[in-house]
Amino acid sequence: MKAERPPERPPGFTYRSDKRIVRASQFTMHADDVSLAMLAERYGTPLYVYSASAIRERYQEFERAFQGCEHTVCYSVKANSNLSILRLLSRMGAGFDIVSGGELHRIAEISRKSAAKTVFSGVGKLAGEIDLALSTGILMFNVESASELDLLAARAAHLRKRARFAVRANPDVTAETHPYISTGLHEHKFGVPWRDAGELYRLGDSFPYLKAAGVSVHIGSQITEVGPFRESMERVASLVRSLRADHHDIRYVDAGGGLGIVYEPNAAIGFAKLARQYAQALLGPLKSLGVHLLLEPGRAIVGPAGVLVTRVIYRKRNEGKQFVVVDAAMTDLLRPSLYDAYHEIVPVVLGADSSAAEKVDVVGPVCETGDFFAHGRQLRVVGEGDLLAILDTGAYGMVLASNYNSRMRPAEVLVDGARSRLVRKRESLRDLLAPERI
Ligand code: LLP
Repeated sequence: MKAERPPERPPGFTYRSDKRIVRASQFTMHADDVSLAMLAERYGTPLYVYSASAIRERYQEFERAFQGCEHTVCYSVKANSNLSILRLLSRMGAGFDIVSGGELHRIAEISRKSAAKTVFSGVGKLAGEIDLALSTGILMFNVESASELDLLAARAAHLRKRARFAVRANPDVTAETHPYISTGLHEHKFGVPWRDAGELYRLGDSFPYLKAAGVSVHIGSQITEVGPFRESMERVASLVRSLRADHHDIRYVDAGGGLGIVYEPNAAIGFAKLARQYAQALLGPLKSLGVHLLLEPGRAIVGPAGVLVTRVIYRKRNEGKQFVVVDAAMTDLLRPSLYDAYHEIVPVVLGADSSAAEKVDVVGPVCETGDFFAHGRQLRVVGEGDLLAILDTGAYGMVLASNYNSRMRPAEVLVDGARSRLVRKRESLRDLLAPERI
């Protein structure tokens, strides 16, 4: 069986000839202008590699798509919280969407100014986290329950800090995605029921230190059709109108995140076009309201801007089934195990002669059957010692990594043009044991 040419992810990840590393007849996948083979040699594997040009391009597509409307792109830190990536985005003017004190601490570390463009979401905010956000002076709290509103009011009064809040209302909109990452239905733990929102705004505005400032929604993640976004914005627009009629000064609409990316080999439409369609879906219903729109994209900005580079340790055949055992595991990239997620896997070096393909399972070394990256996948034949790149792992990759099986979490490298920088070192045995006592 002949192999098809593996997919690429321009502008970040493309095959180029690299005469220094391999024979001239071969192509090596590069991140921007830097060969992944060279990076694997220098920093070892498994290794996350990010492309700054891809991150910039996707952030700017968002900016372009929404340029007709007052807005702030609040990058969702949970997707990839590496400090260098946060700093890159902050320098481009991004705000941030955070869900914990830890994430806020990261923002404060890279830029005090960015804190003022930060929204705080999440169903379980702790008093200490609320205090930190109040004293840092964030833009807005997205409140998810009456109890949280009470706690926010108490902490704000205690610290004598005014807090702007939005109620995260649950629009009960169905969006096609994996059940674990769908959030906008009434049976989910997120937000408050639509009909209860008005009462919460009344309660909120009765507290001296609280000020109703916005309406927020988030209907789920990895949503590739824009219809559900439009539907939820229609509901938001009518809520904004009725709240204003009730004398609440609603200036912000936080549309949440959730715009999906194409994990399959090749995209049917480009990201610029999808971003434009998304912008139309959101802006249509909000027209004439004169609100400041907040967006919380995570995956759509960093997902295709990262790959996980891994080395083949062994090939093994069990009862006719061909396994490729690699040095990365579910501890480095959990998405296939947790969501049965699909990620393209491509050889880092593409020999002109190596065009044969075979059906394989790509698995990691962890002692779980669920430790896999692909089942029954048609791949170019790879040998022991060869490098593979798992694509579209810039979002929800490293952030979900763990030390299960006492494995050390991988290193991360950020490439910008011809420059590459280690932005997180590989964990060592010393790091692994450091928090423990005997
Ligand atoms: N805003 C809120 C309130 C969210 O809950 C999320 C994601 C986002 C923004 C960013 O969503 P994005 O634009 O990245 O889709 N671990 C899963 C994804 C979980 C998403 C959780 N919330 C995965 O690997 O697919």
